[in-house]
Amino acid sequence: MGFKIFSGNSNTLLAREIAKQLGQTLSKVEIIRFADSECRVRIEEDVVDQDVFIIQSVSNPVDENLMELLLLGDAVKRGEARKVIAVLPYHGYARQDRVHRMGECLSASVVTKLIESIGFDKLITVELHSDAISGFFKIPLIHLSGLSLFKEEIEKNKDDVVIVSPDAGAAKRAQSFAEMLDLPLSYIEKKRDLNQAHKIISMKVVGDVKDKRAFIVDDVIVSGGTLINAAYLLKQKGAKQVIAAATHADFVGGADKILQDSPIDKIWVTDTIPVHEDRRFAKLTVFPIASIIASAMKKMIK
Ligand code: R5P
Repeated sequence: MGFKIFSGNSNTLLAREIAKQLGQTLSKVEIIRFADSECRVRIEEDVVDQDVFIIQSVSNPVDENLMELLLLGDAVKRGEARKVIAVLPYHGYARQDRVHRMGECLSASVVTKLIESIGFDKLITVELHSDAISGFFKIPLIHLSGLSLFKEEIEKNKDDVVIVSPDAGAAKRAQSFAEMLDLPLSYIEKKRDLNQAHKIISMKVVGDVKDKRAFIVDDVIVSGGTLINAAYLLKQKGAKQVIAAATHADFVGGADKILQDSPIDKIWVTDTIPVHEDRRFAKLTVFPIASIIASAMKKMIK
């Protein structure tokens, strides 16, 4: 009996690093796409009676990466692994954890059901959008956070620092982060246009940020809109520096440029989603997350 680690295509660099930290290499798998874009997965190693980890971030292109995860899981189950653990450094669809308007689907719940239908024994994930998603899962869920990486950095100089929640949804995370660091907290009230994706209607700061170094803490950056609008507002209210820290960087095209040109002074993310060289920019620092995930996996290895 032993353990094996497979990876889909979404973040092989991270998967390789995690495997390395656990004294392994990635197990062999063939993933092909047919001309009509259908995916086929074949594991090329024996997994009978092994504990198997499948590492796959469900990031952009979300549906392709989700499908790879499901098919990989099925292949490993059919190979008669002893246990199959899904490791999702980024859990896509997690932001759709509520029905906002009549007639909407509850996507996060649908994706949970899909993942569970494969028969995974456990799921490890990082910085879920909200705690609501953990309630959707019947299988055990290990929920890790990338914030400890940023905490170590902030602790080097806590002078004039205020932690800022960029919206109501992020308030709980920001509050516990501020408590962990024994720092004050401010909130931004953000209203979105529910009829238009990524469109923010209004924002308001609650709390004192004048002459402070404002650290905005969020789960994910996509277009950059939330953080950039927050940074304009914080600087308008007198913040002397704005640092934005988000665990996941699922940058859409152009986000790198607008973030670099924005009033944000520094942007910190982790590599739960790969940030390729052509998407990196001067203000960006990428903190490696591998050790946090590897140590959670290590606890499960018999
Ligand atoms: C929103 O509720 C999330 O926590 C993020 O703040 C948001 O999804 C980030 O997206 P964007 O970068 O497009 O504003």
